[in-house]
Amino acid sequence: MSKDLFALVIGGTGMLEKVCHFLAIEGYDVYVVHRDKTRFQAMQSRSTHPDKLFSIRVDYHDEKTLQKKIQETIQIKGCCPDIIVSWIHNSAPNALPTILKEVSVRKKPWKLIHVQGSSSFFVKENTTVPEVCEYRRVYLGFVLENENARWLTHEEIANGIIKVIHGDYKETVIGTLKPWNKRPS
Ligand SMILES: NC(=O)c1ccc[n+]([C@@H]2O[C@H](COP(=O)([O-])OP(=O)(O)OC[C@H]3O[C@@H](n4cnc5c(N)ncnc54)[C@H](OP(=O)(O)O)[C@@H]3O)[C@@H](O)[C@H]2O)c1
Repeated sequence: MSKDLFALVIGGTGMLEKVCHFLAIEGYDVYVVHRDKTRFQAMQSRSTHPDKLFSIRVDYHDEKTLQKKIQETIQIKGCCPDIIVSWIHNSAPNALPTILKEVSVRKKPWKLIHVQGSSSFFVKENTTVPEVCEYRRVYLGFVLENENARWLTHEEIANGIIKVIHGDYKETVIGTLKPWNKRPS
């Protein structure tokens, strides 16, 4: 049974790659939910701590397999994650609840960094989390430069999320969401 800190990053091979590298440097064993093997291997090759990055290869729309993979990972680690960073597309509304159900046995406080797209800000969905979960919500906004709008870069997104982890902010917008009618097309 490992005593290392345990992080689960859903969608970690994309814009959250730098967050995975950061967590690995911070001493976490980082388990990354993704589908593409080559993309994961490329990410691992860019890490200074490749031995701290672990693949959980599953399509998160497939709830049964997702549940099984999370159960197996918890069994290997002998505990539930200390932190989960979640970037899940809206097409898989049951993925996060499936994962949360599996980690709900944890009694010690842990953090969920829930990353959501711009449009979720206006919906303000109510995410049900276990009692000991310290819920942190991050909305991805856009950048307005001299009246020109653009979406956030991966670097800006990852840096913003690392800042949230450091500062333990409850609700954060990376970039801006206002004025909404000026958002990029
Ligand atoms: N401002 C905003 O509101 C906003 C919102 C959304 C996106 N964006 C921008 O749009 C860009 C694209 O976003 P993105 O999410 O496509 O890119 P991404 O973060 O580069 O990739 C998505 C991540 O989720 C994983 N993933 C996707 N579908 C999955 C599935 N069904 N099962 C398991 N893992 C899955 C991917 O792994 P695999 O490739 O291995 O499947 C990858 O790790 C981002 O770069 C971001 O800048 C902006």
